Amino acid sequence: MPPLIAVDNVCRMFTNGAKMVNALERISFEINTSEFVSIVGPSGCGKSTLLKILSGLIPASSGQIAINGKAVKEPLENVGMVFQAPVLLKWRPVLGNILLPVEFAKRNVANHIERARSLIKLVGLDGFEEMYPHQLSGGMQQRVSLCRALVTDPQLLLMDEPFGALDAMTRDELDLELLRLWEEKKKTVLFVTHSIQEAVFLSDRVFVMSARPGRLLKVLSIDLPRPRTLEMMSSVGFGEYTLRIRSLLGSTMGTPAAISGSTA
Ligand SMILES: Nc1ncnc2c1ncn2[C@@H]1O[C@H](COP(=O)(O)OP(=O)(O)OP(=O)(O)O)[C@@H](O)[C@H]1O
Ligand SMILES: [Mg+2]
Repeated sequence: MPPLIAVDNVCRMFTNGAKMVNALERISFEINTSEFVSIVGPSGCGKSTLLKILSGLIPASSGQIAINGKAVKEPLENVGMVFQAPVLLKWRPVLGNILLPVEFAKRNVANHIERARSLIKLVGLDGFEEMYPHQLSGGMQQRVSLCRALVTDPQLLLMDEPFGALDAMTRDELDLELLRLWEEKKKTVLFVTHSIQEAVFLSDRVFVMSARPGRLLKVLSIDLPRPRTLEMMSSVGFGEYTLRIRSLLGSTMGTPAAISGSTA
């Protein structure tokens, strides 16, 4: 089967006034359908930039990106994006926020209400359909944004530190929920995180990036059984993966403290 995502020699520069910032340098990789891949790397190494390029929000300066064999030139319908902040419309209730991509795609809203409700149930938000964002906790808002990314049933989920602002327990809970969804719905996920543990816990493979200009330093296959459980985090194998990634990051960054090795 051809890869779902093919990234070939992608570079991205930004101009900040007179200064040029080289955000991404010659990034190449492939991701297969149904894979769960995480990206870790120092702050400012271009992780969000890479996700924005993949989602068609911004172009690459050079190189090729194809999803399903087609060059990415604009936001694609079969790709859902979850941002670090939930970015919900405050004047719309939960259900209205979740249905937003359906309206954007000019699809039939009535046909998607049942699906939206089943997603709400799946993430444990039933009963909150008519609540407004300010009436929800941060974790609940992030669940809403997860439902919103899933409502059009996209094949690929791009997630940019979606649970980074949450407390450790809520993050663990949402990680488990995400894995359940991924296994049940056979999605492909590309997940950016600052937590090495979260990356190992969730992923089939972890991409380790270098400090700016962001390059792909190492791709690690995580050979831990599925379904994953929180108890696995205290296993020897798990510890070896996190140590390996930590030392890779330490060798590139010079400031290892900027990366969190815990789920907090
Ligand atoms: N729109 C922009 N204009 C100018 N420079 C930008 C823009 N977006 C990103 N950059 C620069 O590109 C580099 C990579 O930024 P990016 O947001 O992709 O990093 P990141 O790896 O997601 O960092 P973090 O982990 O802190 O979220 C940074 O130096 C940033 O200043
Ligand atoms: Mg970022």
